[in-house]
Amino acid sequence: METDRQLLEETLRFAQQQVRRTIERTPDFYPMYTRDGKWKHNGEAWTDWCSGFFPGMMWIFRKRAEGGTVEARYWQEQAERYTRPIEKRKKDAESQDLGFLFFSTYYRWHRLTKDARLNEVLIEAGRTLAARYREAGQYLSSFVSEDSLFIDSMMNVGMVFYAANETGDKRLREMAHRHCLTARRVLVRGDGSTAHEGIFDIETGEFIRQSTQQGYRGDSCWSRGLAWAMYGFATCYEYSRDVRLLKTAEECADYYLRNANADGIPPWDFNAPASRRNLLDTSAAAIAASALLRLGRLLQDPMKGHFYSSSALMTLRMLCEKHVGKKDKKWEGILKGGVYHVHKELGVDESVIWGEYFFVEALDQALGQL
Ligand code: GLY
Repeated sequence: METDRQLLEETLRFAQQQVRRTIERTPDFYPMYTRDGKWKHNGEAWTDWCSGFFPGMMWIFRKRAEGGTVEARYWQEQAERYTRPIEKRKKDAESQDLGFLFFSTYYRWHRLTKDARLNEVLIEAGRTLAARYREAGQYLSSFVSEDSLFIDSMMNVGMVFYAANETGDKRLREMAHRHCLTARRVLVRGDGSTAHEGIFDIETGEFIRQSTQQGYRGDSCWSRGLAWAMYGFATCYEYSRDVRLLKTAEECADYYLRNANADGIPPWDFNAPASRRNLLDTSAAAIAASALLRLGRLLQDPMKGHFYSSSALMTLRMLCEKHVGKKDKKWEGILKGGVYHVHKELGVDESVIWGEYFFVEALDQALGQL
């Protein structure tokens, strides 16, 4: 236990150092994925969903620092500086990703200060996201087209629940809940694996088929999508208290633990062909570790809860020992071996900013439990 604590604390110190260096090297730049270990390059974004993760790490560092110290003041100042420009996205009706953007930033800021103005930003973001709800089909559509639903949406729909709870708006709550039930019905399979995307008939709302953007195939299980499902269904259970959502998160977690490599790190797609199976996605492992820690606290069964927490800890230990970029002095990220978009060749076997954020979140959570 003491060795785990030391390893996790040491890795968090390295994470802080890497974030601080990125701030100093490229002020006001929001990293997304590295190219040969460098954050700044002219590679495409595909879609603009990541600005919250860099300041999100700063909020975690701020929370960990003793109030009133130089360190606490530094992280507070930087976190606010990188968070404020995100406020305008609360009106961004084109984005399906307002949960990613606001849970990592304004939500953390609000938790620290309880400032009502920050809460208003979160409520507006939730209302904007709810406008993506399609009555025919009962889902929040993805950014690619109106007939498309992504598993990633499970990480964002919590923003609609949040706005519903804060305002007492039953209609918002109903939309969020129905979205979860639709995603559960069409994207989660009987064995707990997930499809990345569902396609609907936009007129009738009839579900047509499973598909993918970033996974290997429409019928495969893209590992990051599965990790989003583990985390997202658990969060939506916390908002809705609908035990079906907790059960779904548990089934997805069980699939993950049965199919990830023995060290807890998955291939980028569980059904990738042999020629590409060695390509891992450490960002999926970081998200899954954070989800398992959360699920470990939520499950009624203490044995299973303990199994999830210790699996998360083992995964974190492996990430810290084998995948942290500490030895490579030129590497600007924290965690090596993440994947963004294989087909578009974006951020393949690189550091990815959501991997960094969920890794830091999981390290912080695990240290709170040791
Ligand atoms: N768009 C979310 C992801 O790449 O996981």
